[in-house]
Amino acid sequence: MLRINKLTKRFGANTAVDAATLDVDKPCMIGIIGRSGAGKSTLLRMLNRLEETTEGTITFEGRDVTALKGKDKRAWQAECAMIFQQFNLVPRLDVVSNVLHGTLNQRSTLSTMFNLFPMSDIHRAIDILDRLGIAEHAPKRAEALSGGQQQRVAIARALMQDPKIILADEPIASLDPMNAQVVMQALRRIHEEDGRTVIANLHTLDTARRYCDRVVGMRDGRIVFDGLPEQLTTGVAREIYGAGADFSEAATSTEIDTLEAASTANPVKEAV
Ligand SMILES: Nc1ncnc2c1ncn2[C@@H]1O[C@H](COP(=O)(O)OP(=O)(O)O)[C@@H](O)[C@H]1O
Ligand SMILES: [Mg+2]
Repeated sequence: MLRINKLTKRFGANTAVDAATLDVDKPCMIGIIGRSGAGKSTLLRMLNRLEETTEGTITFEGRDVTALKGKDKRAWQAECAMIFQQFNLVPRLDVVSNVLHGTLNQRSTLSTMFNLFPMSDIHRAIDILDRLGIAEHAPKRAEALSGGQQQRVAIARALMQDPKIILADEPIASLDPMNAQVVMQALRRIHEEDGRTVIANLHTLDTARRYCDRVVGMRDGRIVFDGLPEQLTTGVAREIYGAGADFSEAATSTEIDTLEAASTANPVKEAV
């Protein structure tokens, strides 16, 4: 279905993603973990063609996605809708219009300018919001909603494009634990009920374990682990994160960074 072959991205002398190879042969839910700077976002951005690849190929259902241009490239971007940590909604615009923006690349400039949406699209947007449990917020401004609700609006906007793949770049990193759970459950349901593939960069290990069928670990741009959640032992996790013995399973990528920085700044403490 989706095949990523030796995908590489260089920014000058820095290799952000280094010959990453990944095969997805049936719809599944994949969690990508690794400390910050490991190349997780760059990998997703290349998949969605937000970032050009330096080397390697992406093929989806036999098509070379890396070569697509213009209209075909935009069609691909709708097929693999992306959601972000910061939701990327229009804050002052009402929820339903934000969701309808998921259809923008299928509409004319004029109808976009006047915010004219076909009635059928409006009904579909409300159905999707209803499915995500937030239909009653449809007329409110996006900024009036909680973070967890806003992320569900962003998921609704992605679903408006009827994507085969949903790419989520740290979708719960800005949310409290309760909202994080609601958003991860929504993504899981979308995978199970619709058969869409979800690929999510996750900043905690236990989230990847709990919700994903498959976990991919990245370190320094390379894929260093690709397996089932139960194969992800603490030892393996420590290798992925390059963390020391004080590594905690519940730690986030950011916490691990702080931890490492602190131990380098104060080596005496670590020796004790
Ligand atoms: N637009 C960019 N220009 C230059 N370097 C970048 C850019 N985007 C990412 N990088 C670098 O690529 C590496 C991987 O970054 P990123 O993909 O954001 O990692 P992650 O999402 O795992 O934190 C980092 O070293 C980062 O500084
Ligand atoms: Mg990132």
